[in-house]
Order: sequence, then structure tokens, then C-alpha cells
Amino acid sequence: MSEGRQGNGAIASGSPLTKVVLASNNAGKLREFAALLGAAGIELIPQGELNVPEAEEPHPTFVENALAKARHAAKLTGLPALADDSGLCVRALRGAPGVYSARYAQLAGGEKSDAANNARLVSLLKGEADRRAYYYCVLALVRHADDPEPLIAEGRWHGEILDAPRGRHGFGYDPYFFLPSLNASAAELEPAVKNAGSHRAMALRQLLARLTEEA
Ligand code: IMP
Repeated sequence: MSEGRQGNGAIASGSPLTKVVLASNNAGKLREFAALLGAAGIELIPQGELNVPEAEEPHPTFVENALAKARHAAKLTGLPALADDSGLCVRALRGAPGVYSARYAQLAGGEKSDAANNARLVSLLKGEADRRAYYYCVLALVRHADDPEPLIAEGRWHGEILDAPRGRHGFGYDPYFFLPSLNASAAELEPAVKNAGSHRAMALRQLLARLTEEA
């Protein structure tokens, strides 16, 4: 066992990564992330509790946005920080909506809502035979604001875009995101099933593996 790791795989106390700010105030994300990182001995504190305002997400790539959010939280708190950025990438749309997933309809003059985003997606794919798409998530963890070696982890969840919605769970594009291997849309999956297999879950597991490797 490498120095610094305890018998249960946790990072030993005294490590700078026992307490990490989560650069998000999303309660669902906090629950998912806290459950997995707790197993590595890491306590996650949502940035809102430390009065950190939301950072801008001005960049054209997921990894740049995740890093910007993590750096922002680390700078304002003096603690290590974790951020994520995610979105839907559609093959026939050359990766769109991508980093613009949350405001896809707004970019075309529509409103900022899941319904408007989905309506734009479905109309752009009308008659398109290639329905392939994936959800992408990147996580960035910085030990401090100037960390030259941030830990980066990513996950891709492959599926296909439907013409008509299915299911009532989830959020965002989930009713239109079909998983052939499960014969269900992401919105038809029980939340626990989605949370165990999604792009975010994959990225988190990769991050956890990196953290325990490092310890
Ligand atoms: P965020 O990075 O969690 O803010 O997600 C950005 C946007 O990507 C969301 O507003 C959704 O439009 C889309 N997105 C990311 N992950 C998911 C997901 O698991 N289901 C549905 N939409 C998602």
C-alpha cells in the first residue's frame, strides 16, 4: 500500500484532499458526488455554503469551463475544488448542442428551458437517419487555484435521439435520449439506475480511481 492510503482505500487525514469545495449548488449532484467521494475520505462542501457565487462558463470546451469553475471556487475559498461540466453531443449536428446544451434554444432566440431545447433538437434532426449521440461529462479537481496539474476525469454515455419523448424521470434531454442496450430512454430509468450508469457516474468513478492511485 502506498504511503498516505489507509487500509480501506481512503486518503489519509492530513492529505490536502480531505475537504473539497463542490463548484455547484445542485443538490442532486452534491448527493451523487458526496456518496462516491465520501468512500475516499473526502468531505464535499457546496460552494454556496461558503458564499461563492456561480462562475461564468464562457469557454468553447467542457474542460475549460470545468477548470474555470473549479479555479474560481478554489480562489475564493482557499480550499481544493471540484467542478463538472456536461452536455449532449449529437453526431449529425457535429457535436452540438455540446457546451451550449443548457441554452440551446436561447441561442436561436428561444427561451431557456428544457422543453424549448428539446423542441429545437427534434426539429433539427427531423428526417435525419443518423440518431447517434452521447452525454459527456468532465470533472476537474484543483488542489489550489494555481494548480498546474489538475485532475481531469471524463465520461461518455452513448445513445440515440428519439423523435418523441418517453418517460418522466430525469431532466434536460433525458426523454429524447434512448439507450438501446437498456431498451429505455434515460427518462424511463429509475433515478438510481441512471445515477449508477450515466456519464457523470463514469467520470466520477474515473476520478475516484485517480485519487486513490495518487494517495
Ligand atoms: P450541467 O453541466 O449539469 O449544467 O448540464 C448542462 C446541460 O447539459 C443541462 O442543462 C442539460 O441540458 C444537459 N445535460 C447534462 N447532463 C444531462 C443529463 O444527465 N440528462 C439530461 N440533460 C443533461
